[in-house]
Amino acid sequence: MSANKTATGASRTMKMLTSAALLASSFSTSTLAGDIEAGKASAAICASCHGAAGISTMDMWPNLAGQKTAYLAKQMTAFRDGVRKDSVMNSIAIDLSDADIDNLAAYYNSLPAGGG
Ligand code: HEC
Repeated sequence: MSANKTATGASRTMKMLTSAALLASSFSTSTLAGDIEAGKASAAICASCHGAAGISTMDMWPNLAGQKTAYLAKQMTAFRDGVRKDSVMNSIAIDLSDADIDNLAAYYNSLPAGGG
C-alpha cells in the first residue's frame, strides 16, 4: 500500500517536473538562444571592467547584470561593427562571433541586476 502511494507521488512529481521543464523551454525559445555557461566562460575577460557579477566598480563602466538580452546583443554587435564607437569596447568586441555575443548576452541577462 505505502509502496504504491510512494510510486504515485513520485510519478506526480515527475509529471510536474516535466511540465516545468516544458514551460521553461518554451520561455527560452522566445528570447535569443544563448548558452549561459558558454557566456560565463567568455566573460572572464570582461570581468576586469564590468565586474565578476556584472556590476562594475568604475563610474564610467556600465553594469551589465540583469540587462535585457536583446539590448546587450545589439550593443555588442554595434561595438563589433563600429556602429557604436568606444575605443575600448570596439577593440574587445571585434573578436566576438555572433554566437559569442548571444552567449554573453544570455549570461549577463541571467545575473541579478543588483549584484550579489
Ligand atoms: C577595459 C574595460 C572593458 C572591458 C575589458 C570590457 N568592457 Fe564593455 N564597456 C566598457 C566601457 C568603458 C563601456 C562604455 C562604453 C561607452 O561609453 O559607450 C562598455 C560598454 C559595454 C556594453 C554596453 C552597455 C550599455 O549599457 O549600453 C556592453 C554590452 C559591454 N560593454 C560588454 C562587454 C563584454 C561582453 C566584454 C567582454 C567580452 C566587455 N564589455 C569588456 C569597458 C570594458
